Amino acid sequence: MATVEKHKAKKVKLYMDNSATSFPKPAAVTKAMVRFADRCGASAGRGAYAEARACEQMLARCRQRIARLINAEGPECIVFTLNCSHGLNIVIRGLLNTARKAHAIATAMDHNSVLRPLNALVEQTGLRTTLVPCDGRTALMDGDDVRRSIRPDTKLIALAHVSNVTGTVQPVGEVAAIARQAGVPCLIDAAQSAGRIPIDVQRLGADFIAFAGHKGLLGPLGTGVLYVRPGAEDMMPTMHEGGTGTVSESATQPTGMPDKYEVGSHNAIGIAGLSEAVAWLLGRGVAKLHEHALANCRRFLTAVEGVDGLTVYGPSLAQLAHRSDVFSVRVAGYTPYELAEALERQFGIRTRPGLHCAPLAHKTIGTYPEGTTRLSFGPFTTAGDVALAAKALAALAATSRVRAPGR
Ligand SMILES: Cc1ncc(COP(=O)(O)O)c(C=O)c1O
Repeated sequence: MATVEKHKAKKVKLYMDNSATSFPKPAAVTKAMVRFADRCGASAGRGAYAEARACEQMLARCRQRIARLINAEGPECIVFTLNCSHGLNIVIRGLLNTARKAHAIATAMDHNSVLRPLNALVEQTGLRTTLVPCDGRTALMDGDDVRRSIRPDTKLIALAHVSNVTGTVQPVGEVAAIARQAGVPCLIDAAQSAGRIPIDVQRLGADFIAFAGHKGLLGPLGTGVLYVRPGAEDMMPTMHEGGTGTVSESATQPTGMPDKYEVGSHNAIGIAGLSEAVAWLLGRGVAKLHEHALANCRRFLTAVEGVDGLTVYGPSLAQLAHRSDVFSVRVAGYTPYELAEALERQFGIRTRPGLHCAPLAHKTIGTYPEGTTRLSFGPFTTAGDVALAAKALAALAATSRVRAPGR
């Protein structure tokens, strides 16, 4: 308990909400943003002067780095977006906006950023959806359920790689192979996996992969990426049209990549930061960071095993291959909000309570409608931080037992 007490006394801030957005970022990220704002400040493709050309080069460098990070076929496969939801919408809307009464498949663990665009299309176009169920304990899906759900009118299979509620890693390679065999476009929501788990897009074989720049990629808020497999752009019309700074004589949106899906001036300041974040990830190696995350998973699950009154959802210690370092917990006697508040007030630990924009995921694991309190670690989370979080939860669980009779 000594560490917990010391921590309480020092009022240390311990950020454990990396699934929402990563914090802290590598120091080079902020420096690059300030440098860009102070010394460049131009918009790519909008001028012939040195700064506009420098901005163009910076965007090209960032695309190359991201392509290297995920082993994309080339930088033209990398589309800059505003966040992960934006990339998901480009694909879901692009593929399904004009389809009448089509069918799409997602899973019960998916985020509202997949489910809400689909639900809007149910209203607007008569889209039909099949949500593949997931296991109530591990939250794992079964690829065979996807295979069985495919129909002649299925126009999209979309699913999250890693659950933002339980940290469950889904068999996305298997699903992408099933989709390819059936000739159905496949969209992976890699919001919680890009930068955290090694992704080789050529091996994965999905047509579209959307992710945030501000989560595992360690870039600033307001950045995101959509990977489009070469040729997959032919299946997908544009959702937005506008200036690109290229082929201005054309009355319609350019069809070349990545201009086809990038409309208007870029968030160049954000991308300047993102570029340095990706350089940092390339230097460290995502495989190494993933080992660090798994070691933290092992530490956390070992430390909380058998704590009375504490429930941890998702894959267990024996199922580490199916999990990442995102943990949903409940402590008996506390609502998820009360627990988050106690963790912050007493221990300085920042967590996220509630439904985490994934209500069906909570229905799946039996925590709807209150949800859970989520702790999500990151590359800067140390073994000491993990031990402290586990001790804090154990301490609150013990207090809860003491006060339970009086409640
Ligand atoms: C699984 C999943 N998908 C999509 C998103 C949306 O990401 P963004 O906030 O970058 O749009 C999130 C955000 O937490 C997520 O966890």
